[in-house]
Amino acid sequence: MKHPIAASLAAFALLAGGCATSDLNVAAAAPEDSQIVSLDQVNVSAPSGDLQVSLSAENGTLAWTADWRGSRIIQPSALGLAFKSGRDLNRDLIIASVSRASHDETWEQPWGERQFVRDHHNEMLAEIAFSDGTPAFALRVRIFDDGFGFRYEVADTGARQIIDEQTEFRFDPTSKSWWIPGAGWNRYEELYKTTPMSDVHRAHTPITLELPDNGPFVSIHEAALVDYAGMWLNQRRPGTLEAELAPWSDGTKVKIEGAFVTPWRTVQVSDTAAGLANSDLILNLNEPNALGDVSWAKPSKYVGIWWCMHINECSWGSGDIHGATTERTQAYIDFAAEHGFDGVLVEGWNHGWDGDWFSNGEIFSFTQAYPDFDLAGLAAYAAERDVYLIGHHETSGAITNYEEQIEAAYALYERLGIPAIKTGYVADGGEITRRDADGKVYKEWHDGQYAVNHHLRALKLAAQHKIAINAHEPVKDTGLRRTYPNAFSREGARGQEYNAWGQPPNDPAHTTILPFTRMLSGPMDFTPGIFDLNFGKPVTEDPRVQTTLAKQLALYVLLHSPIQMAADLPRNYEARPDAFEFIKQVPVDWSESIMLDGYPGDFAVMARKDRNSQAWYLGAVTDEEARTIEINLDFLDGFPYEAQIYKDGADADWKTNPYPLELDFKSVDQNASMTLTLAPGGGTAIAFIPLE
Ligand code: NOJ
Ligand code: CA
Repeated sequence: MKHPIAASLAAFALLAGGCATSDLNVAAAAPEDSQIVSLDQVNVSAPSGDLQVSLSAENGTLAWTADWRGSRIIQPSALGLAFKSGRDLNRDLIIASVSRASHDETWEQPWGERQFVRDHHNEMLAEIAFSDGTPAFALRVRIFDDGFGFRYEVADTGARQIIDEQTEFRFDPTSKSWWIPGAGWNRYEELYKTTPMSDVHRAHTPITLELPDNGPFVSIHEAALVDYAGMWLNQRRPGTLEAELAPWSDGTKVKIEGAFVTPWRTVQVSDTAAGLANSDLILNLNEPNALGDVSWAKPSKYVGIWWCMHINECSWGSGDIHGATTERTQAYIDFAAEHGFDGVLVEGWNHGWDGDWFSNGEIFSFTQAYPDFDLAGLAAYAAERDVYLIGHHETSGAITNYEEQIEAAYALYERLGIPAIKTGYVADGGEITRRDADGKVYKEWHDGQYAVNHHLRALKLAAQHKIAINAHEPVKDTGLRRTYPNAFSREGARGQEYNAWGQPPNDPAHTTILPFTRMLSGPMDFTPGIFDLNFGKPVTEDPRVQTTLAKQLALYVLLHSPIQMAADLPRNYEARPDAFEFIKQVPVDWSESIMLDGYPGDFAVMARKDRNSQAWYLGAVTDEEARTIEINLDFLDGFPYEAQIYKDGADADWKTNPYPLELDFKSVDQNASMTLTLAPGGGTAIAFIPLE
């Protein structure tokens, strides 16, 4: 079909290659041609040809589908945006024209799970018009061998408010799904549910599906969430997941000023669960590094005054058992220096923790230390020992109070040589405190546009002060670390802390699901490495850490974070020098990562190569079942290695006997294979050290 209105839409065409909202300069041109012809259906395929996305227009509405190896995996699914005022972008629509591009480039990450990332995709830009030919918006689709993303690109029609995004993802409702509820009080900190897709009511992304009849694994998420609201998926009708944007307190979804692009709506596809974990789709759909030289953002391992608060041995607030004392911090700095750690996190150092800190976020000071904590003296004490402090800013979700002090707080940390901050937004979902200039208080979502914009403001400001951020109770990761590489890590899932006080704690399957769900979005500050798994109580009593000791070691390789904690108390590491050796040795920055095998809820086996040497590492974990896993070592490079194996010892069992650990040393090379034997709730960690 021809498209005679293409000329009048020329002004509407956005340059291929992506652009930030502010770069859009799109005129809503009136059509000049009288003859309006629309395209019924347009397609774009991945470079491999295995994956295809189609877009069609029928009776004024748009629908998209996806096919994998010739089989339909996503049924006709709607598109559209509705506004509080002005013309909606959901009916009376035609596909006016398409333009195409292809792209094959390899780019380098300053740090991360792999050094070089290939971005190989085909692109289709569909110009969508109203039936009279007036431009409506453009839909940009980028399709890779491992998935695709699409986004709406909308011209400037002044300040408007989106009240509904109508993007759908329609699947066979019998698909198996791994998901956590969206819009809940506990944000993203839930145990994953494993259910038929028909049982999903409202879910966060990433959500992972296994399609029936040996269908592929699919993950739905979003990339580059900037100046927009986070997307929940709401199953309004069986099989149809509809985008539901986290609303503002006034009920609107997104406040826009002019031209805008939505985040990419992403779909990763692979024959195996492991394939999802090996995909770079989310990063590839983000913009390149906007910060320039980020050599100051250094991946690191840290210890901290942290777990003692969670197991009630010390407190955040002042008093007899105050955790953040000068003396205790000096001891942690000495410990870090002795064992080669880079940083020491100290929580509870600043005014505001006394009383009910969950509810009094408005009184936190981010510059005033408690009198028994000598911030400047400790920063100097650390520097003399080649260690640094890691800052801590718990906001209890009171973002306005934080923003009022943020500049002074970051400047203070920069002056003291503090290169990373753990932030925190402990507040129930929907209870972020926004205070207006007139003093009125509004409650917002952790993933609403207000919080999304706050997090980016904080990142940009932190970058000016050469500080990296590790956010707890964050907004989900959508790959912005590519653009802002000081976005180091975040929580955004149930981490180790739940093993101290969670009812229930994390079950043995939890860390076999995370790699195929939460971790698809980016690094996580899970804080592995608890050695005293039941902290003084009988081993059978909850809460406790529901793993073997060996599994704690495997998590360092499995769960990527450029800032990785050794979370337990120094005395517990001193008691197990055998196991501690692995934590001291394991890198935090990788040149390659390969998920070798796994199935969500059962097991996962990850291999990664150190960014700073030729060594490879492997982490394997299982759920509550004992498991024997065969692995082929063909990922190794072409020289001989010593495999230093940390595995579950005889009769180890997470439930009754979690501590036996066996060390085994073997010569291997890439032609070898290995049998891993994992205890119930157990794991294996291996360092492959080149023999030359
Ligand atoms: C919740 C965080 O996840 C945890 O790591 C931190 O210790 C507390 N908030 C206090 O900030
Ligand atoms: Ca938390």
